[in-house]
Amino acid sequence: MSLKPLALFVNHEGASSRASVTCQYKCGNACSHEVPNASQGEYFRDIARTALSRRGVLRGAGIAVLAVGAGSALAACSDDSANGNVSATDPGGTGGKGGAAPTGTNFDVVAPNTQDAVVIPDGYEQAVVIRWGDPVLPGAPVFDFDNQTGQAQSQQFGFNNDFAGLLPIEGQPDTFLLVVNHEYTSEPFMFSGYDAENPTLEQFQTALAAHGLSVVEVQGESASGKLIPVFGAYNRRITGTTEFLITGPAAGSDFLKTSADPAGTSVLGTFNNCSGGVTPWGTVLSGEENFNPYFANAEMITDPIAAARLKRYGVEGAASERRWERFDKRFDLAQEPNEVNRFGYVVEVNPWDAASAPVKHTALGRFKHEAATVYVTDDGTVVAYSGDDERFDYMYKFVSSRKMMSGNSQASMRHNMTLLDAGTLYVAKFAGNSPDEIDGSGTLPSDGAFDGTGEWIALLRTGEDGKGESLVDGMSAEEVAVFTRQAGDKVGATKMDRPEDFEPNPKTGKVYVALTNNSKRGVDGAASADEANPRNNNKNGQVLELIDDHAGTAFTWNLLLVCGDPQAADTYYGGFDKSSVSPISCPDNLAFDPHGNLWVSTDGNALKSNDGLFSVVLDGPNRGETKQFLSVPKGAETCGPIIGEERIIVCVQHPGELDGADADSPASHWPDGGTNQPRPAVVAVWKPNGRIGA
Ligand code: FEO
Ligand code: CA
Ligand code: CA
Repeated sequence: MSLKPLALFVNHEGASSRASVTCQYKCGNACSHEVPNASQGEYFRDIARTALSRRGVLRGAGIAVLAVGAGSALAACSDDSANGNVSATDPGGTGGKGGAAPTGTNFDVVAPNTQDAVVIPDGYEQAVVIRWGDPVLPGAPVFDFDNQTGQAQSQQFGFNNDFAGLLPIEGQPDTFLLVVNHEYTSEPFMFSGYDAENPTLEQFQTALAAHGLSVVEVQGESASGKLIPVFGAYNRRITGTTEFLITGPAAGSDFLKTSADPAGTSVLGTFNNCSGGVTPWGTVLSGEENFNPYFANAEMITDPIAAARLKRYGVEGAASERRWERFDKRFDLAQEPNEVNRFGYVVEVNPWDAASAPVKHTALGRFKHEAATVYVTDDGTVVAYSGDDERFDYMYKFVSSRKMMSGNSQASMRHNMTLLDAGTLYVAKFAGNSPDEIDGSGTLPSDGAFDGTGEWIALLRTGEDGKGESLVDGMSAEEVAVFTRQAGDKVGATKMDRPEDFEPNPKTGKVYVALTNNSKRGVDGAASADEANPRNNNKNGQVLELIDDHAGTAFTWNLLLVCGDPQAADTYYGGFDKSSVSPISCPDNLAFDPHGNLWVSTDGNALKSNDGLFSVVLDGPNRGETKQFLSVPKGAETCGPIIGEERIIVCVQHPGELDGADADSPASHWPDGGTNQPRPAVVAVWKPNGRIGA
């Protein structure tokens, strides 16, 4: 069978379909605000011909990859959702150019659609693992939509699940810790009659507790791919009031001191945790992303240096989106000007110790971390990659000076949880090899690729004693750690189209980056297209492939996908026949299956269909073959994919979050159907008596 062309649903005038209410609560309307990066930078074309060393760049093939996330078996499930168990696929399964679909990608593609359901391939089954409000801790009350409290929510699964990690429990087959980020709250969808101008104390406390992370033990059901949550000893809720320790060069700095924490070494809570990664030593990293909308009264900060720092991070205005400053002064910059400097970090959670304090690692810098994902070289050096998800912001990596200890003793864990506290932080600078042919149209250069070289520019070195050394003229180490975006500005880092998930492939060591979109590229005087960001007014995004000298400072790169309507001239699917691919738009989260295929989930499909999860072949004659595996309900975003042979897990975030809808007028009833409110949930998909994509 040949794959049926799937461009039928494409709206050629499409802009991102993300609802404005999602922008409001998720990222503080970042898209409608001025771009925070007003730096001049170094114009891409000026450096395009710079001869960059390729020393050791191709060494990666021999390097051991110890990343755990993608290779571990999956987990998931509980009850069959009432209206969610839908299969609706186009026939197909072989590529238009390369022949049979490679192992792991052999399934009937799901057609683009706008159903209020999770739509999966024919022959597969699905079930919800856990949803917002389900009990996590023993004694948690049954979810009661109309009578929520902060106390109840602090024991229940939080809102808007994003990243998911699955950690096998040793000695217990098919049993895992499921660790999930709860990125943000959408109060109009959480509370009937919500008054955005006048939230109640109980609503504030509930929302605070609905943020953070959940750790839940889940057990596989032998007859299916379901995963059943249990009240295991590791179960935990981390919320907006959980104590975190601050490590690295910003710990104890004046920038982090508040009246509640005059030492500047501990902070309550974590917010807007978007994606993350499972480390090879068994912890979970989570990125604090759009922390800016939680803080009020930036406009009252008149010191020009402090005001410029706030502006660079998009912290602005008077009242905050959620009005939390009315209930806790730490959210009021006029009273606590430094509290905001305590968010925007990579946090590390040890899910194997429910009493442990999570850590914020300031050596990795402060920006809107989408995630952090780890690669380990053959000498045990740890490389943590992280993108800053904002239009025209940067890509970073941290290279540890300490080496990872193997084994799972307490001593190993203690040591390994310090790996991200000593080493060097770098920012990426790109050069293209077809600079004169980049005109913003997306037309492929005559050498057949958007590609080139790049270098990692060192910003901050953190020593064994935890003290930082600035490598940026005119900035102290503490300033680089806390105002990292401005350090990137000073060294002329390359302005990217919203760098989101940034993941090394455990099979090959190549590194992939989802660049979601950037409709401001080349518009109103903003930076124009360059070879790595080759389209002006970029609505559909691209996926970047790096061959990185992981612990070194050089890389080569190419664009694997230039996303959007396959029929349009400005799209590129890895050289694969575009008449035989699923349309993909706005790539966000990345994952790898056990065979080394890339999987991409989307956020804000600009082609007017629901978001989804797609497989992408990376090697061989099918390179670039892109197939949609599932779609999520209307208004929802596909997050946290985990791709195994037994199961695929996705987080369905903000179902029904459409403009004009709210709890009193729901646009979705997923997953429970009937007249029920939509609830963000984790879903498992499996193939009865078979393996995923086999
Ligand atoms: Fe939370 Fe960058 O998406
Ligand atoms: Ca080129
Ligand atoms: Ca994301």
